[in-house]
Amino acid sequence: MQKINSPQQRSQKRPRLLALFAVTLATVLLLFILPALTQQPVVLTMLMQGQDIVNWRPFVKEFEQKNPKIRINLIEGPFDTNLIENLYTSAFLLGESPYDIINMDIVWVPKFAAAGWVRDLTDRIPPKQLSKFIQGNVEGGRYRGKLYRIPHASDAGMLYYRKDILEQAKIPAPKTFEEMVKISQNLQKQGKVTWGYLWQGKQYEGVSAMFVEVLSGFGGFWANPQTFEVGLDKPEAIKAVEFLKNTIASGISPPGVTTYGEEETRLLFQNGKALFLRNWPYVWKLANAEGSNVRGKIAIEPMLSSTGKTGGSCLGGWGWGIAKTSKHPEQAWKAIQYLTSEETQRKFIIQTGLIPSYKSLFTNKEIVAKYPHYPQLLKVVERPALRPPLAQYAQASDILQRYLSSAFTGRMSAEQAMKAAANETRNLLGSLKQPQAS
Ligand code: GLC
Repeated sequence: MQKINSPQQRSQKRPRLLALFAVTLATVLLLFILPALTQQPVVLTMLMQGQDIVNWRPFVKEFEQKNPKIRINLIEGPFDTNLIENLYTSAFLLGESPYDIINMDIVWVPKFAAAGWVRDLTDRIPPKQLSKFIQGNVEGGRYRGKLYRIPHASDAGMLYYRKDILEQAKIPAPKTFEEMVKISQNLQKQGKVTWGYLWQGKQYEGVSAMFVEVLSGFGGFWANPQTFEVGLDKPEAIKAVEFLKNTIASGISPPGVTTYGEEETRLLFQNGKALFLRNWPYVWKLANAEGSNVRGKIAIEPMLSSTGKTGGSCLGGWGWGIAKTSKHPEQAWKAIQYLTSEETQRKFIIQTGLIPSYKSLFTNKEIVAKYPHYPQLLKVVERPALRPPLAQYAQASDILQRYLSSAFTGRMSAEQAMKAAANETRNLLGSLKQPQAS
């Protein structure tokens, strides 16, 4: 039999219904509406060298304005590439890396990919877009056929020289190491400059990058990533080391080069103390900035080679990948896509004078109007001297750095040092069980 509620019972139930309604409303508010209203933006963390942060900050801001739900936290790292690599390596080894976007030097990719620290980006970028980049920059982002890094700037070693001094002396810019030595000695003798040639001889990654150019300039090679053949003890390699040692012995280069990295050599050159400098494109803007003693007095040439040889500039460069441990891979990809777009890069290059990774930008009207030498640079980056893309690159480079340093500081002869470097490299590569990066 159906029970009929009395009016008294009904009025007792109303407050209960109201309470239920209030609780449901509060739950909906708490669970769905409030979080949506107060949702914090996703924060992506990215570690970069200081000068990169200065250059990239305006573009990161621009991205954040267009994507208010994403913030990018830029952490400033040290200048030397190996020191940054160490920071990343320890973070990854500890497990939970705090970094979402990984700013990778071209030489780290095989190691980071082989260790499983970065995500495969192959299917994220259409081949058509990829074909717009300089091939070496894309290849430098691959490991065993998969893509792990999208290039945001190319880099190539080049020769800076004092245009004003050479013009005054009516001497054309040198094309070979031998010419450069002669010009240096001549103008040093006349008291026009203190030093002839500045290069990076400190025991760090920069010395390997610098050496690969001199090595190829003498017709030598370091190691073949496919066959694992090692060329460090071949006569060409020994000659390359002897050439560098001689620049110190003959007073063309200051003895301090054995402890100088990019920045020490840039500052010395910028102070007006030297005729020639081997360095990367980042120097251009700084050396031409207000307060620089060489502002408007410098020019660049592709890296030199020995007479009759071709040589090449070391291909450096940086690009972005996504950490395997990142909890925000989609947002990270969105940021990478924005920051590596052709349009962002066009604006970035105009502001910084760095080297594009898109081929078309080397001949872009606006860019060429500001940097008339860019079409020539395209040829330089398309015919580079490469550091061998090995998963064990860091160890191979470490061996080379140690022995180059021994040779430059006179602890070993060029021949002894290169024989020892070659043997250790052969041991390293001989112990590999699997083929390396393709
Ligand atoms: C530059 C290059 C990089 C290289 C480093 C060496 O940053 O882009 O590839 O490893 O210099 O110091």
